[in-house]
Amino acid sequence: MIGLFDSGVGGLSIAAEIRSRLPDADLLYIADRARAPWGVRSDTEILNMSIELADRLVAEGSSLVVVACHTGSVVALEALRKRHPGLPFVGLDPAIKPAAAMNNGTVAVLATHTTLRSRSYQTLIADHAVDTEVVGVACPRWVELVEDGITDGPDAEDAVAEVIDPLLDRGIGAYVLACTHFPFLQDLIRERITPGGVLVSPTDGVARQVDRLIEDRSGSGRTRIISTGREDGVVERVAGLGGLDLRGQDLTFG
Ligand code: DGL
Repeated sequence: MIGLFDSGVGGLSIAAEIRSRLPDADLLYIADRARAPWGVRSDTEILNMSIELADRLVAEGSSLVVVACHTGSVVALEALRKRHPGLPFVGLDPAIKPAAAMNNGTVAVLATHTTLRSRSYQTLIADHAVDTEVVGVACPRWVELVEDGITDGPDAEDAVAEVIDPLLDRGIGAYVLACTHFPFLQDLIRERITPGGVLVSPTDGVARQVDRLIEDRSGSGRTRIISTGREDGVVERVAGLGGLDLRGQDLTFG
């Protein structure tokens, strides 16, 4: 079984991509919606929450754990690997390397505050984008909207414009979606950016890595989701947007 966790529904974008690559795998996803958003919390809190959720996934029998959250990954991935040696952990880094390699101008990294002030963000720039201008923009409102199940309509359009419009005359060639909630806003973002601008999504790379690392590919194709709170229909809606069909699957709260 593949275990995944995120602060909320964002990582369902990753779960959906893994499901389409591995149709028979069993997935267990924990959405920590009772404590979302994580991107405004301290590193210590994020570390402790990540450990708690990863331990729960391991106790449930996960043979691989995906930290389906950039914020959780930049803070806790190393510690989780040390805590569970022998168990593969897959995490997410802002996709600065492929974005800089496009040589398409300035790179905008759209992420949480935590991700943008992390050491791995600085290291990625130093290692892969020394000759590229990189602009980091925190988008906490985008996380809140997706967590409220709002991915289109005037509020979502305003929130996207608020971030993208000030970037439009800055020569941005690549927009890195460095938060797993953001793929759910990608149609609106794509409509707003300058023609020629490219969106770099986090979903493919991580699904490919899981595909490479997973040993037990068989299962019953079951998707189980645990949300730590908020029975408001958002998990079902957002999972559907990502292409995950939860009918007849198992969704529990607590
Ligand atoms: N989905 C998360 C990420 O990829 C975190 C969003 C949040 O809870 O602030 O960074």
